[in-house]
Amino acid sequence: ATRVTLPPAAPVAEAPSAAAAERLTVLYGSQTGNSRRVAERLAERAAAAGLGVRLLRTGAYAVRELAQERHLVLVISSQGDGDPPDDALGFVEFVSGKRAPRLPQLKFAVLGLGDSSYPQFCAVSRRLDARFAELGAQRFAPLGEADVDFEAPSASWSESALARARETLGTPATPATNLRPVALHAVNSALHDRANPYAAEVLENQRIVARDSAREVRHLELSLQGSGLRYEPGDALGVWPRNPPALVDDCLRLLRLDGEQEVAHDGRRLPLRRWLTHERELTRLSRPLLAAHAAASGDAGLARVLEPEQREALARLLDAYQPIDLLRRHPVDWDAPQLVAALRPLTPRLYSIASSAKAVGEDEVHLTVGVVEYSAHGGAHLGAASAFLAAAGEEARVPVFVEANERFRLPADPSRDIIMIGPGTGVAPFRAFVQERQAVGAAGRNWLFFGNRHFAQDFLYQTEWQRALQDGALHRLDLAFSRDTAAKVYVQHKLRERGRELYGWLRDGAHLYVCGDATHMAKDVHEALVDVAVAHGGLSAGDARGWLAELLQEGRYARDVY
Ligand code: 2AM
Repeated sequence: ATRVTLPPAAPVAEAPSAAAAERLTVLYGSQTGNSRRVAERLAERAAAAGLGVRLLRTGAYAVRELAQERHLVLVISSQGDGDPPDDALGFVEFVSGKRAPRLPQLKFAVLGLGDSSYPQFCAVSRRLDARFAELGAQRFAPLGEADVDFEAPSASWSESALARARETLGTPATPATNLRPVALHAVNSALHDRANPYAAEVLENQRIVARDSAREVRHLELSLQGSGLRYEPGDALGVWPRNPPALVDDCLRLLRLDGEQEVAHDGRRLPLRRWLTHERELTRLSRPLLAAHAAASGDAGLARVLEPEQREALARLLDAYQPIDLLRRHPVDWDAPQLVAALRPLTPRLYSIASSAKAVGEDEVHLTVGVVEYSAHGGAHLGAASAFLAAAGEEARVPVFVEANERFRLPADPSRDIIMIGPGTGVAPFRAFVQERQAVGAAGRNWLFFGNRHFAQDFLYQTEWQRALQDGALHRLDLAFSRDTAAKVYVQHKLRERGRELYGWLRDGAHLYVCGDATHMAKDVHEALVDVAVAHGGLSAGDARGWLAELLQEGRYARDVY
């Protein structure tokens, strides 16, 4: 059900000249780390094959080098509406723009990651692939596109692109030891990582909203003792969830399947219950699953939703349905192997870390967990990871790893001011930021914008913020409680209200951070920032946008949104 488009081989350009047989540049534009991981693996494989390779994120790449670049692989994701990752804004703009040089010397290959439930599937990679060709560059491998289940298709695209790269570059007779890949991160040195998570003990797990709050939010403290895992403020903790046992039971019952029956798939043999609990997504529906289900059920209504004109209906359906709803409403008699093959592999969830190791000790990590729970289609629906974490008691072990987030970092210079915008559980990394700045005695000021539904119920970490204000660890706190007043008040309203000072801080070099909802909040906040720059910086709206784009590009405006 996954797809990677590999049309017939593009002609490989003429034999490599001596100068061309230098090295491969692997660039990645990544928002959540997926493209980065794919690029890292590709670079490692290239290095292992004896190729000279360097690996860079798009934001760290000097675009003027493009005119000299000979062999380039670009792995880049597209966000919801076909937008590039923040880190790639400058790169995409340069390549798309009038100032881009002709690139007849360049051989390139592009792999796009995206989500086919959005109309603009892989828009960024498609655009760049076409643009490179337009600038005179030659594809050494055809454009690849990987959907939500990107792992397997990306790996096979990487293999075939690498094979082509070796033809074009020529394999050196002796391993190119002097061309050690740069920035092949320390990821390999960790004892525990995504593939081999650490089973963390739960030290603390408590509700931090009032009993009558409509949305449960919990504060968790996990032990990292002996794990060797280290984290920085801004990093995320990856959590491998386990599907809710009741949901697994419901699925088995509905399909009249035996959980004890062994199922072989992808070279592994496990009881079906184990597949459904630990290995497959049961709380998230994806387009590929829907497509498989529509085909198997012969349901014309489902098939219609997959048509290009039905994108909005599709988005609504993917949002509202879990796989079990599909099974209930449009029965298909999957047998066990078919079911395991049709469901996507379970993926870890990333939680922004809510603590600073300098403040709480290296052996501890804290999370702020919004518990996803809603009823739909006549039943309770849970989020896999949040339900798993909410129920994790003393005896539980939570499989975790650290996902570095290089783009969401405190200023290297501790005397810089910072502005943090984090409504809801988006406040998590800012608890880490404030703890860290206090622990290192940073001279810069800290300004937090927090919002949630009700002051009395949903003021996350209220006493900590108040203490931080008293201690001088937090200098300003602006609050937006949306449901305490007749008219909604959101963080962006507060940004506009405080526009003059906000602009002053930014003009004086403050760093700006946004964490939380990507679909609405981050966009509305961005618009408010445009307004602030227009009202208080005297910029035109266009210049204000350009200025913010520059800040994003240089990392002084960073977003951790999902
Ligand atoms: P609401 O639920 O009352 O609409 C955390 O979820 C907080 O973010 C809530 O107070 C929520 O308000 C608010 N919120 C919802 N949509 C938002 C948006 N587009 N921009 C900023 N805050 C938003």
